[in-house]
Amino acid sequence: MKVDNLRDKYIEFFESKGHRQIPSAPVVPENDPSVLFNTAGMQPLVPYLMGQPHPYGTRLCDYQKCMRTNDLDEVGDTTHHTFFEMLGNWSLGDYFKQESISWSFELLTKIFEIPIERLAVTVFRGNDIVSADDESANIWRNLGISDKRIKFLGEDDNWWPNMELTGPCGPDTEIFYFRGNDEIPEEFDPEDERWVEIWNNVFMQYNHNEDGTFSELPKKNVDTGMGLERITAVLEGVTDNYASSIWTDVIKKIEEVSKLTYEGNQKAMRIIADHIRSAVFISADPAGIKPSNTDQGYILRRLIRRAIRYAKKLNIDINSNWEEQIAINIIEKYEKYYPELSQNRSVVLEVLKTEKVKFNRTLEKGLKEFEKMIAKVEDGKLDKDHAFRLYDTFGFPIELTVELANELGIKVDEEGFKEKFKVHQEISRAGAKEKFKGGLASTGETETMYHTATHLLNAALKVIVGSDVHQRGSNITTERMRFDFSCDHKLTDEEKQKTEELVNKWIDLGLAVDKKEMRKEEAIESGAECMFIEKYPDMVTVYTIGNVSAELCGGPHVENTNKLKHIKIKKEEAVSSGIRRIKAVFVD
Ligand code: ALA
Repeated sequence: MKVDNLRDKYIEFFESKGHRQIPSAPVVPENDPSVLFNTAGMQPLVPYLMGQPHPYGTRLCDYQKCMRTNDLDEVGDTTHHTFFEMLGNWSLGDYFKQESISWSFELLTKIFEIPIERLAVTVFRGNDIVSADDESANIWRNLGISDKRIKFLGEDDNWWPNMELTGPCGPDTEIFYFRGNDEIPEEFDPEDERWVEIWNNVFMQYNHNEDGTFSELPKKNVDTGMGLERITAVLEGVTDNYASSIWTDVIKKIEEVSKLTYEGNQKAMRIIADHIRSAVFISADPAGIKPSNTDQGYILRRLIRRAIRYAKKLNIDINSNWEEQIAINIIEKYEKYYPELSQNRSVVLEVLKTEKVKFNRTLEKGLKEFEKMIAKVEDGKLDKDHAFRLYDTFGFPIELTVELANELGIKVDEEGFKEKFKVHQEISRAGAKEKFKGGLASTGETETMYHTATHLLNAALKVIVGSDVHQRGSNITTERMRFDFSCDHKLTDEEKQKTEELVNKWIDLGLAVDKKEMRKEEAIESGAECMFIEKYPDMVTVYTIGNVSAELCGGPHVENTNKLKHIKIKKEEAVSSGIRRIKAVFVD
């Protein structure tokens, strides 16, 4: 059975229960530099789970773009994906266990028509913080789930996200589906892989504080998450996710461009399908991520380069427009739900092509070089210098080298590589500064200038708008700076003008930018500004600009504000409640 419109069915169902649909947030979090990607539907909702009122009310539902990259190198089997969609519904201090569980049960059995014999659940066994969740177990019993199908498990299984992570959390109940044609055992065994988890309902009523304690949230919330890829495969009766209707046409396209069949080439085709889809979604995101050697850009680069390597394994002509054909297939398939894909179509195709051309130029030579290196390996380990050469000269992400080597049973000195990589980064940073001093145009120069200008903007807003302006996010490209800050109102024209004037005055004054290493506590005491103090190591770098700004920051910065051009505020807008965003550019 092919399932259609699952997202719509899900949303309609929860709308009928008084929920409002919220749009999927970008896959790159807008104001949360602590994570690279949204990894769950609840992530963009954290402020509301913590108590802030949501403009859409207390019952919400959505399908949310998510990315989990921890298992990137596992992709290639039947179940792993990097990008995925999560169907979710939330109660923000509204309904709790009774409604949440009953509605999940109703949706699964009535709308998705899953026979009750195929369902089983786990509930929380209890620990020092929370007692056993007999309430949930009772609700399940009353719905007709037998005791043999209800298992009480500990915090490793039934606490979300887990006991270590800080932030909103709580016990959960997970719903399992018995897959396959075997006779369904009466007793549920969570260890038996034929039982697959399909839905997680979290009763999110605690906050795990930074100091390790747990406190009650102002309200009892419900947070649920159901992976669209998995539920689709389950309902369609396939054990290979990539054989479900989510993927069949993408795989067909790959068969077409490679002139090979899925049968016999599954691993490579799954990797290409998954990685190109993720690359499409990341590069279509409003954050404007481009392949690079850091953060989200590095993940994007790894995805594209790994897809290319597997395309090569399938003998796809890399110089043809194979990646474009696959990307267009994905864009057209998803654009109805995610309009940013069609809006940014040309950007996406350009990102893929540029990165492909860049990598393809050295890939062939790199692979030859790799083979030569491997032939000389004596102790079963590729050393750090060789791994670094593959990275530096041939653009091989270290993970790619490791994967290639592992296929031959050879290890790579990854630790050694990382050390070498760090030294290299410091040298190239210093190099960028040197070049800057000489006034030579180089990549990185404009970003460096914007970086310093961002500190000035932050400081100017504090003077003009108020001392409770704090940075909430920042993003810099060669074209502009973007700065998010806490502020309870739309800036007036006068405020914008005065802010701009103050920044430009500081630029004209030629203030020295100084860098100082100090202990974290010392930095805080000195009043230096920073976003997430707990994320910093004990020793921190503080950049000061004249006596107008002091911020914890990794740099790089120009050494004097007279190296900057005047700025112009192009846009001032709301990001979310209490957070404003400024986009500004340098003007000549
Ligand atoms: N936030 C929960 C999860 O991701 C629902 O499983």
